[in-house]
Amino acid sequence: MKGLILSGGKGTRLRPITYTSAKQLVPVANKPVLFRVIEAIRDAGISDIGIVIGDTGDEIRAAVGNGRRWDVRITYIPQDEPRGLAHAVKISQAFLGDDRFVMFLGDNCIQGGISSLIQQFGHSDYNAQIVLKQVADPRSFGVAELDDDGRIERLVEKPREPRSDLALVGIYMFDHHIFEAVNNIQPSLRGELEITDAIQWLVAAKYRVFPYIHDGWWIDTGKKDDMLEANRLILEELTPLVQGYVDRDSQLIGKVIVEPGAEIINSTIRGPAIIGEKTRILNAYVGPFTSIYHDCHIEDSEIEHSIVLEYSSIRGLPGRLEDSLVGRNVEIGRSPLKPKAYRLLLGDNSTVGVL
Ligand code: G1P
Repeated sequence: MKGLILSGGKGTRLRPITYTSAKQLVPVANKPVLFRVIEAIRDAGISDIGIVIGDTGDEIRAAVGNGRRWDVRITYIPQDEPRGLAHAVKISQAFLGDDRFVMFLGDNCIQGGISSLIQQFGHSDYNAQIVLKQVADPRSFGVAELDDDGRIERLVEKPREPRSDLALVGIYMFDHHIFEAVNNIQPSLRGELEITDAIQWLVAAKYRVFPYIHDGWWIDTGKKDDMLEANRLILEELTPLVQGYVDRDSQLIGKVIVEPGAEIINSTIRGPAIIGEKTRILNAYVGPFTSIYHDCHIEDSEIEHSIVLEYSSIRGLPGRLEDSLVGRNVEIGRSPLKPKAYRLLLGDNSTVGVL
């Protein structure tokens, strides 16, 4: 089997972070979501992986390389415009050939990996198998309706009035018949070739399409609050490990990971939390569900339930920072200038909440 990861898209819902960075490379518990996807596919025994890239392709190539780090072989497949998931399959035909494959959206996080579903599909004669998850509000996803025998009856992309609560998780398994389907569908109202329509085409053509109901958590990390939720869930599953320096005046409570070269001075870290390589925490409090990436500086401040990206600093905040996603090279601190005022330099589409 082969793996196909879709890592294009503009990431509009994560602006301004995604003006300068691919959404799939935003770290969750200090590891980019895309790396977690590669590891899930590798752990399922697949070593030949194609990555469909778009505008942010150079950054993805630079971060992932040839895959040797994970013992896999990566092939990059450029897509000229975000023309839909089914279009991504279409342009990947030369790479995929006649192999069965798993397609995984590069911004999705799933609990427990994909080994068991790959095994089930690998040993079956199904033409396609789709991962489904019960969700409270299915309107922003592809939705599957099953018949009384549990087989797929109908699939609809983002229905206004969903007839089921089973959302299509961004993980799909196909054999080569999917190429016939993607060549027979028309673009949707949003102008994209939808994979949901392609699978619906397979169902209508009486191909063998089966569901796999996932009962762990699953997060599509397209928005800030989803990133924070994925961060929370992954941090809860990590094993504590201290590889950096923690001075005698500091306290680590609960599950805390301190990466090599990090320094915790006169501070309290209440886990689950992770402090990245070469990050310095000084006279500070880092509360539950916080990931501070590498080379950051947190001083005289309190932060909780947040993600901070590399090379950022937070100093002297009078109130606690919560529910926040702080980008790279960001400086948050007090302004000593008079008159007393907020002084901001914010990118387009930034959001700031003051006390
Ligand atoms: C895509 C699919 C949708 C699926 C979702 C999962 O939506 O079109 O069917 O449920 O991924 O993340 P998009 O994120 O492109 O809006």
